[in-house]
Formats: sequence, C-alpha cells, structure tokens
Amino acid sequence: MDTDTTTAVLILLGPPGAGKGTQARRLEERFGLIQLSTGDLLRAAVAAGTPAGLAAQTVMEAGGLVSDEIVLAILRERMAAPDVKAGVILDGFPRTAAQAAALDTLLAEAGQKVTAAISLGVDDAAMIARVAGRFTCARCGEGYHDTFKQPAQAGCCDKCGGTEFKRRADDTAETAQARLAAYHAQTAPLIAHYRALGVLQTVDAMQGIDTVAQELGSIVSRVSA
Ligand code: AP5
Repeated sequence: MDTDTTTAVLILLGPPGAGKGTQARRLEERFGLIQLSTGDLLRAAVAAGTPAGLAAQTVMEAGGLVSDEIVLAILRERMAAPDVKAGVILDGFPRTAAQAAALDTLLAEAGQKVTAAISLGVDDAAMIARVAGRFTCARCGEGYHDTFKQPAQAGCCDKCGGTEFKRRADDTAETAQARLAAYHAQTAPLIAHYRALGVLQTVDAMQGIDTVAQELGSIVSRVSA
C-alpha cells in the first residue's frame, strides 16, 4: 500500500451468509472503495489452477479455512495493486488471529491502520438459509437469493442483463455448517481484538439488506470523515 495517503481500511467481519459480499459491493459503488474478498481471490486461484488454488480447493470444498500462508500471499499481492489507494473493504479477511496480526503489520509498514472493523451479527439458522439459497450472475457477479432477493425479471440480472447464473460448490447445508464452525472457532474471537483497538462497530445483519446498507453507509461516512 502507498505510504503517503490516508487510505480507508474497512473490515467486514461475520459468518458465512452475514451479507459481507452483498454489502461490500454496495459500499464499493457508493464510496468508490475497492472490495477485496479473499474468498473471491481464492476461487479465482482455484479456477486458474495455480499451485495455491490447487492447495486451497479441497479445504474450501470441506468448509475449512485455507492456510494463513496461502491467504496472506494472495492478500499481499492484491494489496500491492495501485487501485487499493482508493481505500479497501476487506470481505472475509482476516479470519484468524495470525491473519489479523499480519494485517496490522502490513498496514503499519505503510503508515496505515484499520479504520473500522464492522461486525455483522446474524443468527446461525438464518445463515444456513441464506447460504443455501444464494446464486450469482455468471457475468457480473451480482448476488441473489431464492427467497430474499430475486431478479426483478426472472432469469435476467438486474445489473447487467446477464441470463446465466451460478451457485457455489460450498453452498450446501453440510458444508455451511463446517464453515460456521470455523467462523465461531477462529474468526469470532477477532471481534475482541478490534474492540481492544477501539475500531469495532457492530450492525444487526438480521435486518433487511437495505437497512443494513443504510447503517453501514452511516458508519463508513462517519469513520472516513
Ligand atoms: P468466502 O467466499 O469469504 O465465504 P464466506 O465467508 O463463507 O461468506 P459468504 O460469501 O458465504 O457469505 P457473505 O457474508 O458474503 O454473504 P452474502 O453477501 O453472499 O469464503 C469461502 C471459503 O474460502 C472459506 O470457507 C474458506 O475456505 C476460504 N477463505 C476465504 N477467506 C479466507 C481467509 N481469510 N482465510 C482462510 N480461508 C479463507 O449473502 C448470502 C445470501 O444472503 C445472498 O444470497 C444474499 O442475497 C442474502 N442476504 C444478504 N444479506 C441479507 C439480509 N440482510 N437479509 C436477507 N438476505 C440477505
């Protein structure tokens, strides 16, 4: 990251299905920030068949966490790109204490720090329903849900008009349980880390998508001012 700018670094913390990706995309559009999803970066590595992708694939399909070594290498490479000077929304990172410590170090080296870590709270049962009903536009990646957010015109993406949609291989109820267990064991403790740093914000993500977006927008406006 650049050392001569005060780049906003926002973290969206939450279990699978909390709405991190949905909300990160909205914040990206509204505030001109860059969404940086380690899940997306890992899926791209899997699709490209890179050594990191091959190593990550089995773990992701089982709902576990990919090794810190692989995730940090991918994240560092992405954070070095010039576009992150606009400010970043970290979606799905950090997920372990080691990742949080590595992020703090990486930012400190660049004279930066975490602007806000926003915890999205959601009930475990609701999370399973959200993940199991999710699908995305194959062309632009816009997210939808069988129950909560269908395209206005069936079979046609609201955003780009695409007509092909896809579902993630790890969005089964069984794998979602494993992802949820990983969240509670390894990621939820980071809430205390960011509270101690004085940058923790919380949003009730059981509310509707628009309400959550409004609350997040208020937080981002406030902390970026
Ligand atoms: P990743 O891709 O990050 O998945 P995740 O954390 O499990 O999160 P999801 O993408 O499932 O959920 P989300 O919170 O983005 O919810 P969404 O907005 O889509 O990671 C996948 C895997 O990669 C991990 O399991 C791990 O193996 C690996 N990985 C990634 N990062 C890693 C890291 N840092 N370290 C190690 N391993 C890593 O919403 C879900 C659905 O609900 C959508 O259909 C949406 O429309 C709907 N919805 C959203 N908000 C609402 C709302 N308020 N009300 C009703 N419906 C809603």
